Amino acid sequence: MEISVKLGSARTLKTACIAVAIHSGKRLSPCAQALDKSSRGALSRVIKRGDISGNPGEALMLPDVGGISAERVLLVGSGRQDGISGSEYQRVLTTAAKALCEAGLRTAASALLEVNVHDRDLAWKARQMAVIFNSARYRFDQLKTKPSRKPQLSRLQVLSDAGQSAAVGAGIRLGHGIAQGMDLTRDLANLPGNHCTPSHLAATAQALAKEFPALRVTVVNEAEMRKLGMGALLAVAQGSRQPPKLIAVEYKGGDRKDKPVVLVGKGVTFDSGGISIKPAAAMDEMKFDMTGAASVLGVMRAVATLELPINVVGVLPATENLPDGNAIKPGDVVTSLSGQTIEILNTDAEGRLILCDALTWCARFEPAVVIDIATLTGACVIALGSHASGLLSNHDALANELLEAGQASGDRAWRLPLWEDYQKQIDSPFADMANVGGREAGTITAACFLARFTRDYHWAHLDIAGTAWTGGKAKGSTGRPVPLLMEFLLKRSHATRT
Ligand code: BES
Ligand code: MN
Ligand code: ZN
Repeated sequence: MEISVKLGSARTLKTACIAVAIHSGKRLSPCAQALDKSSRGALSRVIKRGDISGNPGEALMLPDVGGISAERVLLVGSGRQDGISGSEYQRVLTTAAKALCEAGLRTAASALLEVNVHDRDLAWKARQMAVIFNSARYRFDQLKTKPSRKPQLSRLQVLSDAGQSAAVGAGIRLGHGIAQGMDLTRDLANLPGNHCTPSHLAATAQALAKEFPALRVTVVNEAEMRKLGMGALLAVAQGSRQPPKLIAVEYKGGDRKDKPVVLVGKGVTFDSGGISIKPAAAMDEMKFDMTGAASVLGVMRAVATLELPINVVGVLPATENLPDGNAIKPGDVVTSLSGQTIEILNTDAEGRLILCDALTWCARFEPAVVIDIATLTGACVIALGSHASGLLSNHDALANELLEAGQASGDRAWRLPLWEDYQKQIDSPFADMANVGGREAGTITAACFLARFTRDYHWAHLDIAGTAWTGGKAKGSTGRPVPLLMEFLLKRSHATRT
């Protein structure tokens, strides 16, 4: 989507629709007042009738407002005039963007920067505008022979004062970069398992490196994995006909000596559970089990688009988890790349098996920090629902940085403890550890398992099982946690510049 800064007045702006704010208590924003005046009270008449009161979540399309250059006006409930919270503003934008997309408009303008938001600056508001409008227009129709005929919003003009256009432009640019990353993440995650195989993820990474010369891709194949001794990753892959891939994407935008942020994304392109097979209901959703990997590729695209002055490496262990005659069985013991042995009590706890080898392998990049991103446990969905990703870490400062990035972007995470007390749940009588720790604290014991492979660096784990996709009627990838990770990297890249 093309998003641009537009200077000038709301009254004379030629567009299919202009979105303007109305505040709680039926108060018109300055732009809305100007439109009201030119249209001889068309807006205030509607408001007087009581069709909209101005609270966040409300929107009302006025198809026929005379006396102004815009063909339509979208009144957008924007809450208290003296200011609303960042998350309320995101709700306001989401409501507006949805209404514009539902109306089937190709172009629109937004005068919603004039809404006051507590503790956020203009660039933040502009960035959210770009991210949220792009998100609302997103469609996944590449597998339909007859894509929807409904026009798609492709151009948004953001109304700004002349003195503020630099800040607004900068915010839009960041938002556009993040949106590019989210689009890639969503496309890959929505793509079903028969299309999105480990090889497809590798090919996508390679195509990305072709598009952005600043990216370098290496792919470790099955034979090399065997030579290296990645017994845990190979154990999961042995039940599948699709060859596994371990993909590394390196971006060097920072100083040569700067240690990179390493992002490790779980790439299980379909998780049937293996021999510990899952129930049939909603099993299709396990095509989303590679969203960790997809979000890492999305971040790499965003980072390269924005040319961030920072070093980042994306590492994607990718495989299917299927029940073949050669598949691993409950009770099997395998040796991980770290040398530690693992008793596989449940073949459905496969994410940690592929991650542990990737986490050992990624030490070669001499990371500043390592963050893994994984749809790892159903228990995390029970604990936090779809509002926050689970966060567990062996380093408080890193955990706090990620919590803050979640808060700032609205793509929130919530920390769970990683106390030693939980470690004994994954003790095994037959190997160094078991791959499951019983019913209690499933998200924590999964992280406890990973923690045994990340002792040599600062590490954080994001369990995105509840946030990566939405089920039900609007089933699909959300693009999370790309906003959180980008916020984290943006802050870090500024920090390294000073
Ligand atoms: N990919 C699943 C986790 C998952 C389940 C994510 C449902 C989103 C929704 C993971 O591989 C898995 O199967 N985990 C098991 C672990 C258990 C066997 C210890 C789970 O959560 O049930
Ligand atoms: Mn599983
Ligand atoms: Zn899984």
